[in-house]
Amino acid sequence: MDVHTGDAPLPKRELIARLRARQGLVCLITDAVDDEVLVACPDLRAVANVAVGFNNIDVAAATRRGVVVTNTPDVLTDTTADFTWALLMAAARRVVEGDQYVRQGRFKQWEYMVLLGGDIHGKTLGVVGFGRIGRAVARRGLGFGMRVLYQDAVPAGPEVERELRATRVDLPTLLRESDFVTLHTPLLPETRHLIGAQALAAMRPTACLINAARGPVVDEAALVEALRERRIAGAGLDVFEEEPKVHPGLLGLTNVVLAPHVASASYETRLKMANLAIDNCLTVLEGGTPPTPVNPEALASRRA
Ligand SMILES: NC(=O)c1ccc[n+]([C@@H]2O[C@H](COP(=O)([O-])OP(=O)(O)OC[C@H]3O[C@@H](n4cnc5c(N)ncnc54)[C@H](O)[C@@H]3O)[C@@H](O)[C@H]2O)c1
Repeated sequence: MDVHTGDAPLPKRELIARLRARQGLVCLITDAVDDEVLVACPDLRAVANVAVGFNNIDVAAATRRGVVVTNTPDVLTDTTADFTWALLMAAARRVVEGDQYVRQGRFKQWEYMVLLGGDIHGKTLGVVGFGRIGRAVARRGLGFGMRVLYQDAVPAGPEVERELRATRVDLPTLLRESDFVTLHTPLLPETRHLIGAQALAAMRPTACLINAARGPVVDEAALVEALRERRIAGAGLDVFEEEPKVHPGLLGLTNVVLAPHVASASYETRLKMANLAIDNCLTVLEGGTPPTPVNPEALASRRA
């Protein structure tokens, strides 16, 4: 076993050099596993991403080459949903601005009209991407007496809709009617810039946008404009278009809460993600069916 212990991801050349003649890779979302890596490492049989999202891996190329890709769904769902709510609440109720207000010594006396935010309870929550995390976010909304709208390529089914009191609508309706728009789609070609200038213009001026999915789902430059001109009230972002870079326009705005891609970062969940990824990797190397494969067809082709 070769363990990379540094904080920074390995440059591609070094990744390839160290991966050559290895059968399994346990990797992070900062490791780009593309066709060049796969071609250069023909012994590779398993790529186990320690994340549910796998847009850092060329899955089609892996499948073609009989490499099994796995991810870590479910174990991080509730932790990510909790943090989505932390961003939502911080943006709506201006928690970070309040913290700075106190630290800067501006809290001289209690004031009736200081740092007013928008209510959360009883409002409309719009969930874009109603999968595991989107539904967990919606479930938390029930406790706040919220109306839940969702948009997803696939309907959730009547039982889930009843349980979460959720209604499937199209994206324009969701944007028009929601007080909070929260994004939970994977990053795919069709979800890149799903929320751009047009979508932002369709949102309510009192609404907040929350993104704990993947940065490129939002056109960050368009979001900066919308926030700057107060065409929407606020935003909470855990992810950015070109991480770790953050659009400089965001840094100067007070109506956006920023987090360094930490939605699944709890002690308990990070341990579960690591264990699941290792379990996935070892199971493939032992010839078994891993718990959470992304491309099970690669397993079939290996065995054929
Ligand atoms: N910020 C973080 O740290 C963090 C943590 C975990 C997951 N994530 C991101 O959250 C994403 C969702 O995770 P999940 O476990 O809920 O995945 P999931 O597969 O259960 O849910 C994704 C949902 O999006 C839907 N979808 C796909 N294309 C769509 C489109 N064009 N329009 C609308 N909906 C569409 C799918 O049908 C599915 O229901 C991951 O892919 C990952 O990128 C981020």
